[in-house]
Amino acid sequence: MKKISYALIGGGMMGLEHIRYVNKMNNATIDTIIEPDKAQRSMCQEHIPNVEFNSLESLNFKDGIDAVIVCTPNHTHFDILRFLFKSKIKNILLEKPVVTKPSDVFKIKKMAKDWGGKIWVGMEYRYMAPISELLKEGKKGTIGIPCMMTVREHRNPFLKKVGNWNRFNKNSGGTLVEKCCHFFDLMHLFFQSNPKKVFASGGKNVNHLDEYYEDGKPDIIDNAFVIVDFENGKRAMLDLCMFAEGATYQEELSITGSKGRIDARVPAMWAETSKDNPTHGELTINMRNTQKPETRIIKVQEDILKIGGHSGSTWFEHLGFLSMIKNDLEPDVSLEDGIRAVIIGMAAEKSVKTGKQIDLTGMFDDQGNLIKDVSELRI
Ligand SMILES: NC(=O)c1ccc[n+]([C@@H]2O[C@H](COP(=O)([O-])OP(=O)(O)OC[C@H]3O[C@@H](n4cnc5c(N)ncnc54)[C@H](O)[C@@H]3O)[C@@H](O)[C@H]2O)c1
Repeated sequence: MKKISYALIGGGMMGLEHIRYVNKMNNATIDTIIEPDKAQRSMCQEHIPNVEFNSLESLNFKDGIDAVIVCTPNHTHFDILRFLFKSKIKNILLEKPVVTKPSDVFKIKKMAKDWGGKIWVGMEYRYMAPISELLKEGKKGTIGIPCMMTVREHRNPFLKKVGNWNRFNKNSGGTLVEKCCHFFDLMHLFFQSNPKKVFASGGKNVNHLDEYYEDGKPDIIDNAFVIVDFENGKRAMLDLCMFAEGATYQEELSITGSKGRIDARVPAMWAETSKDNPTHGELTINMRNTQKPETRIIKVQEDILKIGGHSGSTWFEHLGFLSMIKNDLEPDVSLEDGIRAVIIGMAAEKSVKTGKQIDLTGMFDDQGNLIKDVSELRI
């Protein structure tokens, strides 16, 4: 049977992770790569010796490509999507964040509508095993009516990227867009309600202070608290610190309801892949009436874990994306999901800069789809 054929745009850190997972699949292959950097091309070739390197434009002439994986720097997503939406490509796996500028958000939505293909946005934190268990358990009703969600990510500083694009807000969209759109997606996924108000406090206190590039000193923040109020009266909070890689657990999430609280813990990569004493993910249910917390250990298959840097989640994302193509399903993470998460991030960045609460009332319809231009979120 013919394998599903992918083209990969961007063979950097994340592109290589995608390559390793696609290589592990029996029924998919990456046949074409678009990557301008020579060193990165060599790294890609180490994993796929017979791969063809091509230009973006070649995607219009080549036959037999079933899907494209986009993992280029955030600020390139808009132009690449604009090209793909006019091409014959009909399936896209797009790394987050969808776009970086508030003025591009509505434009992308309109372009995608005219294109009519399927786009799946890379919100892979949904597939981290302890997090997906938390969401499932929270929806079961075990803890009564869920009211609050807290997400703590305490991790390492941003890694070095090709061309250092991630040091500047103009390229990444800002830390709360670039990194934290994952968490805003989880908040909406769980509460299924539109974000109403966003308030954030953040700053740059420790990281990148002594770095200097052609574009000057990095301007991204390295820690923040973000509060999001939802239209259904529920609320969520993010606690982000990017100089805390000593912590055993990188992500710790809690959902608290009228009867109890559920906690999920995702280990840092160093702890999860430790040879001698690996730490596994955990889920703890804390009921108000029993006061006897119960903890479940959540293990991820070792070979899947070791291929990537995201607790195996990219593997589960790929299984879903492939199934979407083969079985003509809808994407698990839609463009609207990606857009909504980015808008909350943009509002949070704006709140940090202005010190004001940002009102998102009226920006989304009852199905959570964006209905207004959000250019006003520019800073
Ligand atoms: N889902 C996640 O958890 C996660 C994690 C890391 C990165 N990402 C996302 O993946 C994307 C890539 O990040 P990265 O960490 O791999 O960065 P990177 O700098 O390591 O890699 C980006 C690659 O894209 C190439 N590139 C630049 N412009 C290009 C263009 N116009 N066409 C083709 N290739 C181009 C660069 O040469 C580089 O090799 C970003 O959008 C980032 O936000 C997602």
